[in-house]
Amino acid sequence: MTAQYRMRGDVAVLVPAAGLGLRLGPGAPKALRLLGGEPLLVHAVRGLAVAPSVGCIVVAAPPDAVDQVHALLDPVAPVVVVPGGQTREQSVAAALARVPDRFEIVLVHDAARALAPSDLVERVAATVRAGARAVIPVLPVVDTIKEVDPDGVVIGTVDRSVLRAVQTPQGFRRSTLVAAHAASTDPTGATDDAGLVEKIGVPVATVPGDEAALKITRPFDLAVAELLLRRTLAG
Ligand code: CTP
Ligand code: MG
Repeated sequence: MTAQYRMRGDVAVLVPAAGLGLRLGPGAPKALRLLGGEPLLVHAVRGLAVAPSVGCIVVAAPPDAVDQVHALLDPVAPVVVVPGGQTREQSVAAALARVPDRFEIVLVHDAARALAPSDLVERVAATVRAGARAVIPVLPVVDTIKEVDPDGVVIGTVDRSVLRAVQTPQGFRRSTLVAAHAASTDPTGATDDAGLVEKIGVPVATVPGDEAALKITRPFDLAVAELLLRRTLAG
């Protein structure tokens, strides 16, 4: 089938989508769960493919669903699909290995953040293009945050004003992301690529995030995403 979006930008996006979605409850791998009648991954890839900066998308799929994912995404955009790994870090590394040489800017975007708007993608890409080696979208923390001991007794209140909640897409100079992954030593796998970049001593810039880029983790999040999608479609 003819791909719907041609994608001519200078940015490659890695989409880790190989997780099981255990916190969402029993069912298919999370990226294949339905939101408004379409798999989360289809929403995520469509949101990336419409962003003018994006020129390449590499999806890390559940290993036994590679063909299914390819068939699902082919009508949306011309994506590369690779088998993901046991950890998110392995899935990102597998996708990174398949990025064509010409792309010097690489974004990493969780399939679980299926409704991230394309202007967020553009904001992150533009910041790397302007010279940042690593950039993450962030939101202020709204809840009061307490530190507790193992029994749940409060030790103290954390100063919220210096805290930020981190989203994806995260953006990198390709060489920075490659170096960060090569230096990674955590056997359980990092869940945050910017965290790997911090460990090699490279500064990580921030840009404003977007509440629509919420991570669909638990059933409540899926319900919120359904409402957001309906609101967007109602326009
Ligand atoms: N992911 C991946 N490979 C893994 C684990 C996670 O590509 N081995 C991806 C997920 O598909 C998701 C993103 O990393 O898009 C963020 O992970 P998370 O929200 O934790 O998703 P899951 O691991 O699927 O969910 P859970 O932890 O509840 O099982
Ligand atoms: Mg997980």
